[in-house]
Amino acid sequence: MSHPTTNLSHPGLFITFEGLDGSGKTTQLRLLGDALQTGGHRIVTLRQPGGTPLGDRIRSILLDSRSDADLGAIIPEAEMALMFADRAQSLRRIILPALAAGSIVLCDRYTDSSEAYQGAGRGLGSDRILTLHRAVCNNVLPDLTILLLPPLSTSLRRARGRNDRTARRLGADENRFEREDDQFYNRVYKQYCEIAERDSGRVVVFPGEAPIATLHQRILDVVRQRLAAAGLAGPP
Ligand code: TYD
Repeated sequence: MSHPTTNLSHPGLFITFEGLDGSGKTTQLRLLGDALQTGGHRIVTLRQPGGTPLGDRIRSILLDSRSDADLGAIIPEAEMALMFADRAQSLRRIILPALAAGSIVLCDRYTDSSEAYQGAGRGLGSDRILTLHRAVCNNVLPDLTILLLPPLSTSLRRARGRNDRTARRLGADENRFEREDDQFYNRVYKQYCEIAERDSGRVVVFPGEAPIATLHQRILDVVRQRLAAAGLAGPP
């Protein structure tokens, strides 16, 4: 199914970060936010799932690896619907108001994650995800999506190591997706590649591995071009 790229017009800029767990997107989002703020831009950052009180509850259900035992195995359709319940809430409560006020919104994951993880990873298919996106999110799409795609093996090694560390340090458990096998992540990876090909005007891919500072500079260059094109080059 083709994914229309028309969007609501607004004075801000909606930027999403996508990639596998362990792709480095959260670090790059923070660095970009710091650089834009230093440049005088108004920034709103958030992540999905989460960011609203409802979303934080949904996040802990979906990411805690004990949920399937505590609540009964969560079926893929329920997982998909919960991701969109979270997204509906953060879209109306945070993203759209911030864009209307002229801010740059940096969102860690959005509907591309649902298409990659639930659509491909869980096998629900892109059509159902995109239909829900139109129904629940009024088809609001990012102006720019930064897709970080280091090799699959690198992402998996980083994500699995990091989650063990998180668990040791904080007692927090956000390991539910990291427990999926390599085939699941292979499907997620391939779907991200397909999305990038299909929506090449919106999605900019950063393949391979690069030092954090190098990648940050490349991302900043792309974002500055988009800001200039949108007439948001920033205060002098
Ligand atoms: P995130 O906090 O970005 O984790 P990480 O920092 O490890 O990338 O995302 C949490 C998990 O939720 C991640 O494994 C992907 C998953 N997810 C989906 O499966 N579907 C979705 O729609 C979203 C937003 C996230």
